[in-house]
Parts: sequence; C-alpha cells; structure tokens
Amino acid sequence: MRGILTLIRSLQKSNVRGLTFSQLKNHDYLQQVYKMGKGRQLSSCAETLNQPAYTPRRAVLYVPGNDERKLQKITGLDVDCAVMDCEDGVAVNRKEEARNTIKKMLDNLDFGGTECVVRVNSVDSGLMADDLKVIFGADRMPKTLMLPKVDRPQEINQFTECLKESLKDRVQKEKVQLITFVESAIGLINLTDIFTRTTELANSEGLFDLAGVVFGSDDFCADIGATRTADATELLYARQKIVTCAKAFRLQAIDLVYINYKDLEGLEKQSIDGSDMGFTGKQVIHPGQIPVVQKAFSPSPERVEWATELLQAFSLHTQSGKGAFTFRGAMIDMPLVLQARNIVQLAEAVNS
Ligand code: COA
Ligand code: MG
Repeated sequence: MRGILTLIRSLQKSNVRGLTFSQLKNHDYLQQVYKMGKGRQLSSCAETLNQPAYTPRRAVLYVPGNDERKLQKITGLDVDCAVMDCEDGVAVNRKEEARNTIKKMLDNLDFGGTECVVRVNSVDSGLMADDLKVIFGADRMPKTLMLPKVDRPQEINQFTECLKESLKDRVQKEKVQLITFVESAIGLINLTDIFTRTTELANSEGLFDLAGVVFGSDDFCADIGATRTADATELLYARQKIVTCAKAFRLQAIDLVYINYKDLEGLEKQSIDGSDMGFTGKQVIHPGQIPVVQKAFSPSPERVEWATELLQAFSLHTQSGKGAFTFRGAMIDMPLVLQARNIVQLAEAVNS
C-alpha cells in the first residue's frame, strides 16, 4: 500500500492533481506510455495498466496433499499462492490419501486472497488421470493446476484429454489456469514447442489458459548431473532460457526452491537474484520463507517512486518533443520508460 500512496502523492504534485489512482491509470500520459510499449513484456508480466487480472505469484508455497494439519494452515498464511501437492511432496503409498484430502480441503477451506492451486502428478507417472478425476469431483474447483515434468508437447495432448474427461460433467464457470514445469534437459530444449502446443490447445479446447512456468531445479540438476552450489551458477543458462521463453509467450516464470529453509539470508539473496533476472516469483517450502520471498519480488517504495517520477518526466519531455532525456543523472529513453511502467503495474497488482 505504501508504494501506491507514494505513487499517488508524487503524481498529485504534478499536473494531475486531485485524481484518484484509477483515474490516474487512465490519464493521458500513462495511456501514452502504455500505447508506446504495447506488445512489450517486461519483468512484471502485468500486461496493461487497465487489466487488473494479473495474479501475483511472488511466493508459491507447497503443502503436501496428505498432510491435513499443514493444509489447514494455509488459511492463516499471507501467501500469494498455495499449492496442494499430489506429486513429489507425497510418498508413493500416500497418493490416494492426498487426492482425497485435497478434495476435502477444496470444499472446506476458505483460501481468502490466496490462490488455490493443485499440483497433480506428471503425465508419465500414470497417476495424473486419477488425480484429476478425484480433484474435479470436489464441489469447488481449484483456480489453477500445476503440471510437473513436462518434457514433450505430446504430454500436453494427453493432459488435455484427461482434463476434458474430468470436466465433462461440470459447468465450468472459469477456465483453469495452467502452470507447467520444466525439470529436465529435454524439457528445457523443448520449451518453446511445449508452450506453442499448450497455447494451441488452450485456444482450441477453451478449458484452460497457460499462465506460467516453474523451474524444477532439483530434478533438473539430477538430470544434467550438476552439483548445486550456493550461487547457483550451474543453473544460470537454464534460468535465463526459462525467463526468456516465458516472457516471449507472456507467461509468469517461477524460480527455484531454496531448500535450506532456515537460512533466510541465503534465501533473500537468491530471491533478489531471481527477481533481477526477470522471474516473477519463487517456490517456497516453509511458511518462514514467505515474507522474505514476497518482499524480494515486490518493488520497493523507492523503486515505485523512481518509476512514478520517471513517467512524469517522460510525459513532460515527450510534450516538448524529446525522445531521450536526463533523469536523476542518467540517460532515459523508451526501454527505461517501459521498465518504469512495469514497476508501477506490479506495485498496483501486489497491493490490490
Ligand atoms: N505448509 C504449511 N504449513 C507448514 C509447512 C508448509 N509447507 N511447513 C511447515 N508448516 C508448519 C508446520 O506444520 C508447523 O506448524 P505446527 O507446529 O503448528 O505443526 C510450522 O509450520 C513450523 O514448521 P517446522 O516445525 O519448522 O517444520 P516441519 O518439521 O513441520 O516441516 C518440512 C518441515 C520441510 C517437512 C515442511 O516445511 C514441508 O513439508 N514442506 C513442504 C515440502 C514439499 O512439499 N516438498 C515438495 C515440493 S519442493
Ligand atoms: Mg520436481
């Protein structure tokens, strides 16, 4: 909220005195910034100033689907996104129990402002069809599904068929949001084809929207034979490729898990690294990690103030016919203006 107040205060000092934030969004110069940057996607993934539909997924918390005590805790956690897990957080002999417990939680828990997500097992596991069947037997549907270990586009065909089967007796009020995982060398190589096929099926079947991608880094390391290091240099190429592919398809990109969950300093550093690289959020495994991660993936009040003032300066300079200008001692042109727009959009999304 502080970021937005700063934004409003500094805009009110300028030639848009007296307007509310929603009026400011429609104000000429912000519209102008939007139009000039239309079609460009920067780190926030917040597509436009006028589409409030952006779902912040700064921290994405896994909760084992068979652990009712932990699942019940979701309602008391201030987390953007909670994932009730059928996959690797659940032992093989507890899969049935996890599905049924998740179904019960879907019907009984009030998730409030937290996005309700279910991670099913992978297509290759042979367990996904049963996961979907039980989960979509609940009265309330999860907003979002996560599909792990997607290696090839054909898996999305199978997933879509199973989803169609599970939804056939339901009236679907909203499309399911789908988030896929990349967790292997072949999955990384095929990422563009996977997104292309998923987008085609999303459009042709109308059951789901592709919303994002998660980097399953521990499975990825096992697959390529890498050894994990503190600064994750062994993952640099994969992280950059994932962010680039995700942004090319206008998707959110969720960064790796920091498994030493008691080390909050290391977590903060890795979160800031991920945010600086363009990831929009990070997976977490413990409630203690949530505030650190959500802070790292939110623009600071100082950044919001910088962005707001830069947009004002841009407006004034544009009116006088200048494309590039100096702001706080630095040269500013359109790429910086678009980054500023991105920060303002993200601040609004996480504060709403
Ligand atoms: N979701 C919700 N609540 C959680 C939680 C989670 N992921 N992890 C811990 N908690 C709760 C605990 O239940 C405990 O509350 P309680 O004392 O009232 O029972 C509190 O937070 C503190 O937990 P703590 O004692 O520090 O940890 P733990 O020993 O209970 O659990 C883990 C540690 C790592 C086993 C646990 O955090 C976990 O299961 N994380 C998810 C792992 C996972 O899903 N992995 C697969 C995806 S990478
Ligand atoms: Mg995994």
